Amino acid sequence: MAPLLRTEDVHKRYGKEEVLRGVSMCLEPGETKVIIGPSGTGKSTLLRCINRLTEPDRGRIWLEEQEVTARKASINRLRADIGFVFQDFNLFTHLTSLENVRLGPLRVRRLGRPQANRTALEALAQVGLSDKTKSYPAELSGGQQQRVAIARALAMHPKLILFDEPTSALDPELIGEVLEVMVRLAKSGMTMLVVSHEMGFARSVADEIIFMEHGVIVEQGPPSRMFKAPTQARTGEFLRKISELYGEAD
Ligand SMILES: Nc1ncnc2c1ncn2[C@@H]1O[C@H](COP(=O)(O)OP(=O)(O)OP(=O)(O)O)[C@@H](O)[C@H]1O
Ligand SMILES: [Mg+2]
Repeated sequence: MAPLLRTEDVHKRYGKEEVLRGVSMCLEPGETKVIIGPSGTGKSTLLRCINRLTEPDRGRIWLEEQEVTARKASINRLRADIGFVFQDFNLFTHLTSLENVRLGPLRVRRLGRPQANRTALEALAQVGLSDKTKSYPAELSGGQQQRVAIARALAMHPKLILFDEPTSALDPELIGEVLEVMVRLAKSGMTMLVVSHEMGFARSVADEIIFMEHGVIVEQGPPSRMFKAPTQARTGEFLRKISELYGEAD
């Protein structure tokens, strides 16, 4: 099977700092991979390169046959095919849930209003927010806002969704509802690349965990092996550390 996403030797530098030093990875259709690693290691930068929020200096990225890094790649089409869920939700505060979610279908997918509404309502139902379609972000909890953000990605019927620490801005009691939605999505066959230190989530749905440090992938593998028998000492150390912090011992 051809990979859905492939990055090849991606490099990025900010001034003197080499943030990505040759990252190659792929995602098969329907796979979920979870990226972990210390702060400042380039995890967000990698996700941002994948949907061209950041331009890599070197290396190439493909979404199926479409070369993301090609100079003439359509950024609009790319952003429609690759959803992005941010740590801090990034919703428009002056728009209701429904308006936030239908914006992409209307403006980017260019659906008519009735169809865009239908698509948006379906996406909101998928994240369990059918009763909050008319609410503004300020009237929603953080967990609900993040679910609206996930619905916004889903409404575009993307090929892939990137998640950058989607639960790390949430109060602990709100994390579960967002992870639950993500678990359901992963099990439904959505292709997902997720930066997260929620190892319970990784254990239940990740096909692989990718450990990044200093701009490179140190090690990757299925959660069962990564937890039990990492080949790199650094991986084991880091996994122990986040297990202590996030309460997912052993
Ligand atoms: N636009 C930018 N301009 C300059 N430096 C940047 C920029 N974006 C990121 N960096 C630097 O690149 C490095 C990697 O940042 P990145 O956000 O990718 O790390 P991260 O692994 O996502 O970290 P965290 O776990 O804290 O989110 C950091 O040292 C950061 O300061
Ligand atoms: Mg980050």
